[in-house]
Amino acid sequence: MAAIDFSRRDFLQSAAAVVALGATTTKGQEQQTPRKPPSGSVVISSANGLRATEKAATMIAAGADTLDAVVAGVNIVEEDPEDNSVGYGGLPNEDGIVELDASVMHGPTRGCGAVAALRNIKTPSSVARLVMQRTDHIMLVGEGALKFAKAHGFKEYDLLTEKSREAWLEWKEKHSDKDNWLPPPDPPASGEKRSDASRPIAFTYGTINCLALNEKGEMSGVTTTSGLSWKLSGRVGDSPIVGAGLYVDNDVGAAGSTGRGEANIKICGAHTIVEMMRGGVTPTEAVKAAIERVVKFTVEKRLLDSEGKPNFDLKFYALSKDGRFAGASIWSGGKFAVFSGGQNRLEDCAFLFQRPQKS
Ligand code: GLY
Repeated sequence: MAAIDFSRRDFLQSAAAVVALGATTTKGQEQQTPRKPPSGSVVISSANGLRATEKAATMIAAGADTLDAVVAGVNIVEEDPEDNSVGYGGLPNEDGIVELDASVMHGPTRGCGAVAALRNIKTPSSVARLVMQRTDHIMLVGEGALKFAKAHGFKEYDLLTEKSREAWLEWKEKHSDKDNWLPPPDPPASGEKRSDASRPIAFTYGTINCLALNEKGEMSGVTTTSGLSWKLSGRVGDSPIVGAGLYVDNDVGAAGSTGRGEANIKICGAHTIVEMMRGGVTPTEAVKAAIERVVKFTVEKRLLDSEGKPNFDLKFYALSKDGRFAGASIWSGGKFAVFSGGQNRLEDCAFLFQRPQKS
């Protein structure tokens, strides 16, 4: 599916079209959109999920359930110490402790499960699936989530890799000159691999979302993250919130997000996108309209650049019941992973604003 560079004017037009469609399709909408599954599975993911889409599609082709497939897919990234956006090796909170969030949704059974602020477990998505399968609850957090994971045999690990600890220490030493933490001397002692000595390391919002559809029309999704780097202890983002970081309706489609969770939670992004698709809006138009809504809801001066545009990014991904898919971001340059038609690849996200060229 071709990505679209939508100009502000086009974007506003499409948002208006969404509103118009929503207004006219509340009755009889099930007849308006073709919802036949495609021949062959379709799996999409955030750009860091190219291995996840491949794994999930391979498993689905071998007969696996769509939820088992996407969870196995993201487990690869969760367990990878080199990926500092999720699971083992994820960037920690301000105290240097890795806290993980994840959610799952299983379309055929309408099940969902989530964990938040979970420590010491490499694969929070697997724990979220167990919350769905083995409790009468939907979300477990903190100590309770860890206790539950251990009861199911998950092993505890120190999730802070050396690489993530060094990144955290660098942030701690550079983000303020009004505390007692000092960066190393300049030039750094031999062996020190510090970047620009005066620049603090930015916050990051790494996450992986993965959505799947099989030939029977069954859909599932997962979103998993270590959340905002250097966050306050106990901060929970959008990833484990059903309706924000993930939503699946087996009759309609699925959506998920990566990026600044606080901005997504305010618009319940994933649910909003699925509801737009229910009204007959294409996945591409739906993710673009959700991005537009995020921008509209971003009014805090501290979150805006000198031109009044958000100073952060957020991406949405959508997959419809009939196998159409899309990704969109606030800023240009985004990609998303797609497995369809037997091919695994990255595609461009549509975007609202062109990033300024670096001089
Ligand atoms: N989207 C991930 C987070 O904000 O935690």
